Amino acid sequence: MELLHFHYGSVTSTNDIARELLRDYPAVLVSALYQTHGRGRHGRSWFGEWGKNVYCTIGIQQSQSTLLTHIAAPLAFGAVVVWDTLTTLVGVAPIFLLKYPNDLLGRCPDGAWRKLSGVLVERTVVGQVHACLIGIGINVQQRDFPPSLATEATSLALLGFELTPERVLQQLKRTAESLCESSLRELLQRWRALLQIEGRLLRIQGKHGLWKAVALHDSGQLEVEQGGERLLISDGDSLRYVLD
Ligand code: BTN
Repeated sequence: MELLHFHYGSVTSTNDIARELLRDYPAVLVSALYQTHGRGRHGRSWFGEWGKNVYCTIGIQQSQSTLLTHIAAPLAFGAVVVWDTLTTLVGVAPIFLLKYPNDLLGRCPDGAWRKLSGVLVERTVVGQVHACLIGIGINVQQRDFPPSLATEATSLALLGFELTPERVLQQLKRTAESLCESSLRELLQRWRALLQIEGRLLRIQGKHGLWKAVALHDSGQLEVEQGGERLLISDGDSLRYVLD
């Protein structure tokens, strides 16, 4: 599937622009040098300097893709696009970790895992058109983060990879267009394989002790277990991986 690419200087959020463009175009890739109101999940803002990172949204009308009508497919799509884009550019590196559902973490020189990329999935209706928006932020050349993010965020540059946002975006477009041709089964299998979550030990916000991930369901929910108690999780932000 071809994604029609629209590139801007400054926008509110690439998700907002994609939503409007989907009135007239079946499938778009919207990118910008800067977002004044970049959004993260759970109403958080997504911060990034002008021209240093990738801020983009893949927007697809639902009539164009049965794949993305499945509840978990856009989450999986975001995860696999980011992973395949970056590993194509820098090689499969043990310094990347995909955290459920679709955050990409990078292992920093000090040994800490920090967030390199995040995905915001929104479903929308514009006029008569139902559409899916997959907003992706990848930190590329930014080296300084505000104090509130400094211990949580990283970038390709801080990990030692000298790439430009344009190069990453160009690869992301290619990767996304080819991934649109996957079947749902293939997409979910890839997501599962990349997450490698089954058996992983986790902490869950508001819950005591360590939990073990036992299954990633096709619904996208993660089943976790502790001492015979089982829970279904769909909010990755409440999870902390136990990492060495
Ligand atoms: C998260 O991890 O909380 C999701 C972050 C998603 C950020 C991207 S940047 C491009 C697109 N436009 C937005 O406003 N948000 C997403």
